Amino acid sequence: MADQQVHDALDSVPPQPPVLRWAEPPEGPVLVLLDQRRLPAHETELVCTDVPALVHAIQTLAVRGAPLLGIAGAYGIALAAARGYDVVEAAGLLEVARPTAVNLRYGVRLAADAHGRALAGGGTREQAAAEALEAARALHRADADASRRMAGHGLALLGELLPGGGHRILTHCNSGALVSGGEGTAFAVALAAHRAGELRHLWVDETRPLLQGARLTAWEAARNGMAYSLLADNAAGSLFAAGEVDAVVIGADRIAADGSVANKVGSYPLAVMARYHHVPFIVVAPTTTLDPTTADGASIEVEQRPGREVTDVPAPRSADAGSGGGVPMAPLGTRAYNPAFDVTPPELVTAVVTEVGVISPVTGDGIARLCAGARDG
Ligand code: MRU
Repeated sequence: MADQQVHDALDSVPPQPPVLRWAEPPEGPVLVLLDQRRLPAHETELVCTDVPALVHAIQTLAVRGAPLLGIAGAYGIALAAARGYDVVEAAGLLEVARPTAVNLRYGVRLAADAHGRALAGGGTREQAAAEALEAARALHRADADASRRMAGHGLALLGELLPGGGHRILTHCNSGALVSGGEGTAFAVALAAHRAGELRHLWVDETRPLLQGARLTAWEAARNGMAYSLLADNAAGSLFAAGEVDAVVIGADRIAADGSVANKVGSYPLAVMARYHHVPFIVVAPTTTLDPTTADGASIEVEQRPGREVTDVPAPRSADAGSGGGVPMAPLGTRAYNPAFDVTPPELVTAVVTEVGVISPVTGDGIARLCAGARDG
């Protein structure tokens, strides 16, 4: 396609619908989500009127990705408070809806604490509900700001590690605007490189079993006019061997005190291959993903998901391709191993990029410095 045609095609792409929005009466109070299970075939909204509906949306990945889970959890508390439900009970349900992304717990506690403080200070239930909602909105704004800063730090780091530009970046899972109040984590760095004219190619792992790369990252890359190709996860090795990858850039669901990184399953093998091929392995995450209370990688709880996500393949462009299941491929009764995440040890991570700065090498001291930077604002 000629350049002008590409620009015309991009001009006609409608803006991405909001991934999450709070609606006041008369529509609300409700939390409205872009249903990520149905992308890219359908851009439909999912309306959550209560906490059990939101918990179901989280567990079936209608809403997903670490920073967005934190934001959704905070709005979930605001929803419970606005509708007069027991906020402590709501917090208990929400913070364990998925176990690995620490942002979920962070967002839930942020809003629940704001609610509790207002009541303890003699506020009415309405005032406490308003405080919970403001806490959720503040987290939403802060995450958008963190996205911008991470993109800037990440782009500068790429420039230092790979002088000369023309980066060929490999990414895994989905880490763009669909997971964030802003443009995302790892994907935001690739997007910044694209806008700076420094992205030669984005390699997008399909990310079996739920295909976040094929369904979501490819959708975001196409919408942004980036040069990208989709690959089966097991094709990454040959891509490294051919010298086609300059850097791996991924997000994280939890970073432990020692710098171990939990991210979508399949990240760890990329780190091993990156080390073998002398390619930088860069992790981009807001400080809300750092968890100083988890000592090390072995202490991170990795979510185990239903086996049918592995034994079945989603029907192509089916309405709910992202929630697993579809066409059975394995013999009936086959058991599956289906961890949603894996853990990469810090020694395989070249750098951790956050909104408060970058650490490299990745050590416990460095993680503690980032946590202190986040506290000091
Ligand atoms: O199971 P998901 O789709 O919620 O997993 C998401 C990821 O693993 C992302 O890479 C991670 O949240 C970091 S990007 C924000």
